[in-house]
Amino acid sequence: MQIACSAAELIRRAWERGIAVPGFNIPYLPMMEPVVRALRDTDSFGLIMVARLEWTKFQAGGPEAVAEEYRRVSDPRHTRLHLDHVPVIDEDGRRVDYVRIISAALELGYDSVMVDGSRLPLEENIAATRRVAEMAGSFGAAVEAELGAVLGHEAGPPPPYEELFASRRGFTDPAEARRFVAETGVDWLSVAIGNVHGAISAARRGTQKIRARLDLEHLRAIREATGLPLVLHGGTGIPSELVRRSFAAGIAKVNVATAIRQPYEALVESSPQAACEAVYSTIVELVRNELCVEGSARLLAERR
Ligand code: 13P
Repeated sequence: MQIACSAAELIRRAWERGIAVPGFNIPYLPMMEPVVRALRDTDSFGLIMVARLEWTKFQAGGPEAVAEEYRRVSDPRHTRLHLDHVPVIDEDGRRVDYVRIISAALELGYDSVMVDGSRLPLEENIAATRRVAEMAGSFGAAVEAELGAVLGHEAGPPPPYEELFASRRGFTDPAEARRFVAETGVDWLSVAIGNVHGAISAARRGTQKIRARLDLEHLRAIREATGLPLVLHGGTGIPSELVRRSFAAGIAKVNVATAIRQPYEALVESSPQAACEAVYSTIVELVRNELCVEGSARLLAERR
């Protein structure tokens, strides 16, 4: 049995059923096959994702290389292809030609794309996101955007986490989110509710990620304001019970990168095969015992 519907419809179904679809980042192409195999073996559904920084700072090759590997190993019952973070201003403060990158990915057949205007003032984030939503519409692709500051990708030491969480600094503002959704036509919104990204700078990418927390009350307020499937970035290292509770409060997609990248990097030089098996077993454990979404492929294939 195949799931014949769009990425937008699948995420909407997850949202309505109170579960979430994990998205797995692919900074090294050989990681993709064990990700797909783990999803298949747990009969679960997930997104295969690549972010711009994974071809500029890691070895994903580029959107085309990822799409080619995806065509080779993907399984339509278990996967869709997502273009993660294409920033308008990147983690090093540089302007990015996001329109060119995203339109090329749409031509390549990506099922969904993310434009990240979160480093822009609100008006400019709205304008960039609306532009991408218009582009994606004619391809039937879903669009994700971000409002608020999910920190972690920037170089240099991160701000002290407890201070950040206590002050709610950078958290997505529900009233702004309401306006953002109404004016952009976006399908999914990435929110800042205490989550942070794993570090990717060369100096810190091997370090253990901090244990982040989530403000679920704040999340519920954003859900009330937007009525859209919400996305949790920085999925590594948050206590799994909190992540699962976030599904009932509006999260329908959870992004995971560091949790599979670090075991891969630790082993790849001595044994590429062991590195891939580490990716596989990490995902099986995550899907089965942490996110508790084993069997989601069957659940999402059913129309209610
Ligand atoms: P982690 O590296 O914390 O898993 O975050 C991944 C992510 O949000 C990619 O967009």
